[in-house]
Amino acid sequence: MKILVAGKGGVGKTTTSALLAHILAEEGYNILALDTDSIPNLAQSLGVPYERALGIVPLSRNEELAQERTGARPGEGWGVLFSLTPKVDDLAEKYGISIKPNLKLVVIGSIEQSKEGCLCPSIALARAFLMHVLFSERDIVIVDSEAGAEVFGRGLAEKFDAMLCVAEPTLKSMVIAKKLIEMGRQLNISNIFLVINKVQDSLKASKLYARVFSDSTPYHLVSFDENVTMIENEGKGVDCIPKDSLIYRDVDALARKILGIKKRSKVV
Ligand SMILES: Nc1ncnc2c1ncn2[C@@H]1O[C@H](COP(=O)(O)OP(=O)(O)O)[C@@H](O)[C@H]1O
Ligand SMILES: [Mg+2]
Repeated sequence: MKILVAGKGGVGKTTTSALLAHILAEEGYNILALDTDSIPNLAQSLGVPYERALGIVPLSRNEELAQERTGARPGEGWGVLFSLTPKVDDLAEKYGISIKPNLKLVVIGSIEQSKEGCLCPSIALARAFLMHVLFSERDIVIVDSEAGAEVFGRGLAEKFDAMLCVAEPTLKSMVIAKKLIEMGRQLNISNIFLVINKVQDSLKASKLYARVFSDSTPYHLVSFDENVTMIENEGKGVDCIPKDSLIYRDVDALARKILGIKKRSKVV
């Protein structure tokens, strides 16, 4: 099953992705977490010490690897012919960071193409890897993405079985989420959830939802929880969030909904 976690910056995508990954891993599933943010930080949220996290080279910036796999020398990619079908099936094994025996992270970085429309070799490699992962049969893939489904484009976007569009309980944030959700629908993603995060007043959040979403877009509330900033400031990952905390309870309930989809539709 492939899950896309999308939304504007700062709403809580990385926190949600990381906690979801840990919870689903605890349920015994094999999880591959992918970070496609241009400034990746999922590693830290998953519990990789930040000194180590700083040293991770995202796949879409790894020119050496791109040279090895595409045949293009660094700086030579633009306008030069290189392989668009590089070998990628071993990348999760070789470049994945093992968080737990059944939870692996691959930092991909931004997969957006340049404004000129060219594809540099390292981004071609990252895209080929994503394509490979999205077409492969895996337990659960969670993609933390700063953009919406549109960066994946047709052909790739519909490979997601679910999209969680994260928003804050403000009118502005929900209006943005509504647009991202519409794009997700146009790209034929079948299960779309609005995740309203950092909720302090659930009645207010539900009213806002009703105001912006006149349709029946499923939504899920995740409470504001000071444990998140506390563990972040201690340099710890979300695995250190207490199980009896509000955020754990709410993301755990979200995980159950996702597993419900997985079981109902028998998606891999
Ligand atoms: N449920 C929550 N309660 C309290 N703080 C949160 C919650 N979710 C996220 N945050 C805080 O919001 C900030 C942004 O979260 P992050 O997950 O990095 O967002 P994004 O990945 O969307 O940019 C973080 O500093 C985090 O501590
Ligand atoms: Mg993030």
